[in-house]
Amino acid sequence: MRSTYGKAPTNSLVGWDLTIDLRSDSDVALHRQIYDQIRTAILTGRVRSHQKLPASRQLAIYLGVSRTTVTLSYDQLISEGYLHTKPGAGTFVCAQIPDSMLSASSASANPTANDSVVKPLLKPAFRSVLQSESAIAESVTADQPSLTELLSAYGNRLHQLPKPPAETHRALSFRYWQPDVSLFPTAQWQRCINRCRSANADWMDYSADALGYKPLRTEIANYIAQTRAVHCSPDQILITQGTQQALSLIVRVVLDPGEAIALENPGYLSARKVFSSHGATLIPIPADSNGLQVNEQNGLAAQSSSSRIKLVYVTPSHQFPTGVLMALPRRLALLQWAQQTNALIIEDDYDSEYRYGGRPIPALQGLDTHQRVLYVGTFSKVMFPGIQLGYIVLPPALVAVFAQAKWMCDRQTSLIHQAALTDFIAQGHLARHIRRMRTVYAQRREVLITALEKATRSPRSFIPDVSTPDFPTSSSSISRVARTPGTLEIVGDPAGLHVMVKLPTARQPNQQHSDQQLVLQASRQGVALFSTQPYYLPSSSLPTTAANREFIFGFGGLKPPEITEAIARIQPYL
Ligand SMILES: Cc1ncc(COP(=O)(O)O)c(C=O)c1O
Repeated sequence: MRSTYGKAPTNSLVGWDLTIDLRSDSDVALHRQIYDQIRTAILTGRVRSHQKLPASRQLAIYLGVSRTTVTLSYDQLISEGYLHTKPGAGTFVCAQIPDSMLSASSASANPTANDSVVKPLLKPAFRSVLQSESAIAESVTADQPSLTELLSAYGNRLHQLPKPPAETHRALSFRYWQPDVSLFPTAQWQRCINRCRSANADWMDYSADALGYKPLRTEIANYIAQTRAVHCSPDQILITQGTQQALSLIVRVVLDPGEAIALENPGYLSARKVFSSHGATLIPIPADSNGLQVNEQNGLAAQSSSSRIKLVYVTPSHQFPTGVLMALPRRLALLQWAQQTNALIIEDDYDSEYRYGGRPIPALQGLDTHQRVLYVGTFSKVMFPGIQLGYIVLPPALVAVFAQAKWMCDRQTSLIHQAALTDFIAQGHLARHIRRMRTVYAQRREVLITALEKATRSPRSFIPDVSTPDFPTSSSSISRVARTPGTLEIVGDPAGLHVMVKLPTARQPNQQHSDQQLVLQASRQGVALFSTQPYYLPSSSLPTTAANREFIFGFGGLKPPEITEAIARIQPYL
């Protein structure tokens, strides 16, 4: 057996004349790739009946994947009748792969033939097409139209959304959404859960309150008043399943399909997907070194003079992905625009707890005197993404309708988690964790930038230039800011869990890889890299174009030695 993915073959696998070629850049999960390749080998006779398979542990080591990955593929092959296990002896290829499986007509014409091992577990479409991989693909596509014809317009829009690229668990990943969950104080969190579980059984019932657990809403109101200067009463807060649900509720409650929402360009892809799947018309507005442009030349005001824009989505405290901070005059202009045009603003304040310098700026919501802002917060970054707990601070006039929307959607967010989070905040664990992580992440950001400087042999420069006293002044799109040749450009404020970087052009231009090639090469080295290109929305009327050699490096989920190792692995391609 040969692998093009994992470690060198061991002797015990030599008896297998089979290449398993795992691709970390594929959309297909690793266990599915292993399954497909072993099954094809059995069907094409490259692996014979009765032949023993390597032990799952051996194969896992050999391929450099987890044992669970191999076990999943073996289990699937066993359940479909290709393999069987003999207790104490191992896993073997079945004696018979029934002839009926190799022919569509014989399988359906003679349903009882050779069914002792395999048939009961095979669906008709599957049974009919084991002659080749392409036949399977054809059969799957042949079956699909009748099902997809059932979809609503919404279902169709969801169906057409691009799938996120597959990432292998092995990768050293610069994923931008990842905090370091290994440093989360799980013992304290567990204690909070246990205490709530034993205090009473209220958490087992529906909540009487569609807005969410009142003590949690009170804690959040105090917390965001102190840290973000958000002004609200607990009764303006709706607890959600993270930002994603908040955005989904907002767009459904405020916009009819076809109506327009303005968003930053480049911007947060998951927000864009929620809005477009709802059928909203997306109006991309360039974000420059001051954040979203509001002016009448290229900005929001220009667009809203030709089309009615009811909603605008912004990340003013740490623009995603550029990382810039929306300057105060821009904030005031945005609020004024919303008031004048009778529009609402979604303020996504997803990671502003993590600032490593520069000026903290209060939330847009705190500056709003006309109830124009829907402030969205999340615990995904300050705690862990799996918690999926977030909130919306609503203008009082919209509270009742949002409470209805949440109740229609899922009644409530898990009560025990809301109660535990209340204790976690009230006992000071959250504030302590954030303080600690601020130091950890500031160091990782620095390690990353230093490693990139070394790897590209280019000194860092900042956009906007924070060393200039009256920054920011530029009003051109970030991707069009003149680049300082030969420098590694660090964009945005020192904040959050990611940094946007413009890599210097290669010293020998004919050796420069395209962004896609770079992502692919990195993935072959076990490193997941994220180009900013998908985050740009093509716009017919506004001058924002995706930039080359611009990448988002999330540093939250990698320890300093892993950051250094990942950059060293991709250095030859930078
Ligand atoms: C711009 C932005 N908003 C919000 C989130 C968090 O989303 P959620 O609360 O759905 O986990 C992220 C995560 O990376 C983000 O990048």
